[in-house]
Amino acid sequence: VAGPGWYYLGSKERVQVMSVLKERQLSRYRFDNLDSMSKTMELENRLAAELGAGYVLAVNSGTSALLCGLRALGIGRGDEVIVPGYTFIASIAAIIYSGASAVLAEIDDSLTLDVSDVRRKMSKRTKAIMPVHMIGSGADMTSIGEIANHQRCAVIEDTAQACGGRHRGRALGTIGDVGAFSMNVGKTITTGDGGFLATNDRGLYERAFAFHDHGFRPNRGGVSEDGPVMGLNLRMNELGAAIGVAQVDRMDKLLRRCRRNKSLVREVFSGLAGGEERPLHDLEGDCATAFVIIFGSSSRAARVAAALGGSPLAASAKHNYALMPQLQMLQDRVTDNGSTVAHGRPGDLPRTDNVLQRAVALSVGMVDRYLGTLGDITVIDDPGTVRRKAKRMRGIIDKVR
Ligand SMILES: Cc1ncc(COP(=O)(O)O)c(C=O)c1O
Repeated sequence: VAGPGWYYLGSKERVQVMSVLKERQLSRYRFDNLDSMSKTMELENRLAAELGAGYVLAVNSGTSALLCGLRALGIGRGDEVIVPGYTFIASIAAIIYSGASAVLAEIDDSLTLDVSDVRRKMSKRTKAIMPVHMIGSGADMTSIGEIANHQRCAVIEDTAQACGGRHRGRALGTIGDVGAFSMNVGKTITTGDGGFLATNDRGLYERAFAFHDHGFRPNRGGVSEDGPVMGLNLRMNELGAAIGVAQVDRMDKLLRRCRRNKSLVREVFSGLAGGEERPLHDLEGDCATAFVIIFGSSSRAARVAAALGGSPLAASAKHNYALMPQLQMLQDRVTDNGSTVAHGRPGDLPRTDNVLQRAVALSVGMVDRYLGTLGDITVIDDPGTVRRKAKRMRGIIDKVR
């Protein structure tokens, strides 16, 4: 698994890491001077400016960012959160660890939350909708926002796979109440492991902060009285943050590269028989980490994927609800804290099953067998190489009958 940022790890990151070692400040705080600036704080400021978010909180993973977001929203026992069946297990795990129950919903052809199914699955207990911006592209945030407003529930965007993406000009992860991002090695920018939460609401930020740092207020300015009183330690460490600061500097370039690669692949694949590029809710805002083709039939998709040495996206046990072992082992059981999962059995989401069986993803910026992206195009390839590799794949696909 390697995301765009991983390919560009280099001297900028080295300089930042060396400065942390030189200063010997390895935590977000200097406990002798709580107001001193740290790499973690610098990273938060840089990300907030880059994304246009009011507040950013760096944490130790995308999963922690989701959990902090849910706890900040006050979601817990007895509540339901709607999440798509095409995601990573972490989205569902965070809901369960918040104490709420997960209600799985369908995806549409964009591979993100199907808003008509969200409407069907809303109940009196629904406290949040969690769209997941899969493989670099955003969900229909306009419609999701309308449903949430109407039903007075929160929106927490799982933006792990789409840092830098946009919807109608706004950064993904800053449109809902809370956005959770991952910076693991497969993501747009990386800190190794790491993540962050974005919000425009000071209260949500403070509650998320308290949950990530033992119930303290920002900069340990006393203890939060607005809950969650009992926090954990989910803090980012300074070495990761130092790498993150250098990676934020590269973000624009990384996105430009991915988008250039994708438009070259799009040109080579124009007029492909039997398949269409995945429709997106915002073409310009795409992070362009993968080029996904939705074929008319699952058998053709399977033959094409096999010719390229892989499988359609349905085969990903990491992202297809029907194959996630952690989820399937949970069926018929209630977790220790009383959480359940609804609509999570194989076959419960027929539209999702159908789309994933017809979807074949080619890497253009993120190389991820884990997710199921095929081919060998990387973010560091020059345009000639991208064209050559794309033409070779097109030649293979055209021969598939
Ligand atoms: C959609 C999605 N959500 C959440 C996560 C969790 O992020 P992390 O690995 O940083 O905990 C991932 C990571 O792969 C992801 O792809």
